Amino acid sequence: MRETDHAALWRALHLELDDLPGRIAGRAVSSEADPAEVRAEVERAFDLARPLAADQALRAAARLLDDRTVQVTHPRYLGLFNPSVREVTIAADALVAAYNPQLAAYSHAPGAIEMERHALRALAPFVGMPAGAAMSFTSGGSEANLTAILAALAHRFPAWAERGVAALPAPPAIYASEEAHHSFVKIARLAGLGTEVLRLVPVDGGLALDPAALARAMAQGRARGLAPLAVVATAGTTGAGVIDPLADVAEVASREGAWLHVDAAWGGAAALSPRLRPALAGIERADSVTWDAHKWLQVPMGTGMFFCRHPAAVARAFAVATGYMPAAAELGQDPFTSSVQWSRRALGVKVLLALAELSLPGWGALVERMADLGDALRARLRRAGWQVVNRTPLPVVCATHAGLQGARKSVAAVVREVQRRGRAWVSEVVLAGSRRAVRMCITSFRTTEGDLDVVVDELERARRAVRSRPPKPPAGPRASARRPLQKRRRKAR
Ligand SMILES: Cc1ncc(COP(=O)(O)O)c(C=O)c1O
Repeated sequence: MRETDHAALWRALHLELDDLPGRIAGRAVSSEADPAEVRAEVERAFDLARPLAADQALRAAARLLDDRTVQVTHPRYLGLFNPSVREVTIAADALVAAYNPQLAAYSHAPGAIEMERHALRALAPFVGMPAGAAMSFTSGGSEANLTAILAALAHRFPAWAERGVAALPAPPAIYASEEAHHSFVKIARLAGLGTEVLRLVPVDGGLALDPAALARAMAQGRARGLAPLAVVATAGTTGAGVIDPLADVAEVASREGAWLHVDAAWGGAAALSPRLRPALAGIERADSVTWDAHKWLQVPMGTGMFFCRHPAAVARAFAVATGYMPAAAELGQDPFTSSVQWSRRALGVKVLLALAELSLPGWGALVERMADLGDALRARLRRAGWQVVNRTPLPVVCATHAGLQGARKSVAAVVREVQRRGRAWVSEVVLAGSRRAVRMCITSFRTTEGDLDVVVDELERARRAVRSRPPKPPAGPRASARRPLQKRRRKAR
């Protein structure tokens, strides 16, 4: 058996990571890829019939990550809620991988579990959760949202845990705005409720859940005999970064006896800023909250957070006992009895280290600085003749231009051109089902005002360029292009 050459392996890793942020900032953001070509490259790099030295395998993996990735940690990646990652969180993730603590049972990993709980206890009050709330790390926002719906079922219909949907006295309904995240579609299926459980409520002119429309929809549901299971309000919608009017929505939900879940997967971080916190007023009335650390909190993927003010409901949803696991000292003490996952990685260690490095006030300042960059981008776009079509204090900017109409001069064509040139990455979004705009989100703590100048310049160049060019197939993660690898390893122009 081949022994690992430790020195060579760690030297290779050091070389790959040394000044990685600087190298990424100096190259193109996007990567165009033909899946067959990438598959062939992977198969060539990793011929599994023969052993490959660990350092060589690592370098091969690094090349594929370097060449075949949309670089979401690039300071001019203004895409979906995919953050840059702070270096301490990369180190923390590596440390956790090395120790590989098992977080199913408290007795196996008290150090890691208490580090996680310290982070969750520190963050909980910012989203209005009391001491004693149930809190857990999840794989992301989807799992946290799923956890919320399962806890709501256990709370509203106690017999559901044993008898499933047969225990429900009437067909249930989950109310959310048409701009809510589509994880709820999958959750409806996963929970055995079916997608018809979702009642999508229209948004108002500002793309926020309209409490009057919600009240009407819930009254209609009641009249049709539906059992109101939950209302989902979003704090920072995926498309437009809009915060639903949480206090008004809470009022309607409580009048109708429905569980209120606030999906603050991205926007939760705004609570850390004294200036932005008032925009989340009403979140303290939520029964449960989703808040992803792997969005605005700048930690690597796979790190969501779930908070719930009803630990008994969470226990009812997830409690399980078996002879091969240690007997719990107290209810909810063992993570496997209070969350979806069983074996689980110590996700929260990197969150704790991120909080420790900057401090909570330091995080507030960082979040505010990124929100300021959102304002700066709006101002630049308006000066260049663009119209901003969303209203939010958070740094998501959706914009269009009077000249962008028709297939050749469309928003999609501009977005494709920006992505193709590789100096910045923006996306297209369709808001409220029909309004198309260029969507830009400040997701990196490394983005500067100078980067915004480049982004607006790229948009303007793209707008001029698409006038004379027919539309091309999309670039980006689903892109298809047949240029050789060497040409794709280009520098940003
Ligand atoms: C508002 C909102 N909720 C939930 C999710 C799902 O989170 P995840 O991708 O971590 O599962 C997202 C993802 O962008 C989101 O924007």
